[in-house]
Amino acid sequence: MRETTQIERLFASNRRWVAAMTQTDPEFFRKRARPAEPHFLFIGCSDSRVPADQLTGTTPGELFVHRNIANQVFTADLNVLSVLQYAVEVLQVEHVIVCGHYGCAGVQAAASAAPLGLVDNWLGNIRNVMRLHRRELDAIADPAARLRRLIDLNVVEQIYNLSQTPVVQRTWQGGAKLLLHGLVYELEDGLLKDLALGVDGPEKAETLAHAGQRG
Ligand code: CO
Repeated sequence: MRETTQIERLFASNRRWVAAMTQTDPEFFRKRARPAEPHFLFIGCSDSRVPADQLTGTTPGELFVHRNIANQVFTADLNVLSVLQYAVEVLQVEHVIVCGHYGCAGVQAAASAAPLGLVDNWLGNIRNVMRLHRRELDAIADPAARLRRLIDLNVVEQIYNLSQTPVVQRTWQGGAKLLLHGLVYELEDGLLKDLALGVDGPEKAETLAHAGQRG
């Protein structure tokens, strides 16, 4: 009974949303039923507190979205690679965003020793990020600050992973514009922080692999 009520709540709020949107613009849904031309691919965390559309103030049709636990870009993950390929080569988006968030339970779990089951395999990559940046992270005395830095570094690592995919490499080689942006969302105040990585080609991508970003 309780579950039914909760699910019904979603349908009720869906109907309210439709009413509100069509009141502002009677053509809202008709316009958005046409093929969309989003300018952004947004790769974020599955966390329910990080809604891609709402936190960027975008409406349906503007963002192509992929979410998984702790916003990972695995070069062997057919799901994220397919989303990336479709977004870049078919939709021709020029901006790919990896958006992490502070308070990320996925990153926190990777940093702790407590076993969680299957998800531990998924989070293994973050343990590699910790290993790569061991010196920098160990130098941060405050555990909360250390976790925040790991969350930043996890985003940097995923941007690097993106830059190494054949799709991104091919796009850059072909001379097309493609920018990779690393962002972190602050749950406490709702603001997005730009890590200002400015990755627009292979040279810039390589700087992520060196220059104090690792080590
Ligand atoms: Co998260």
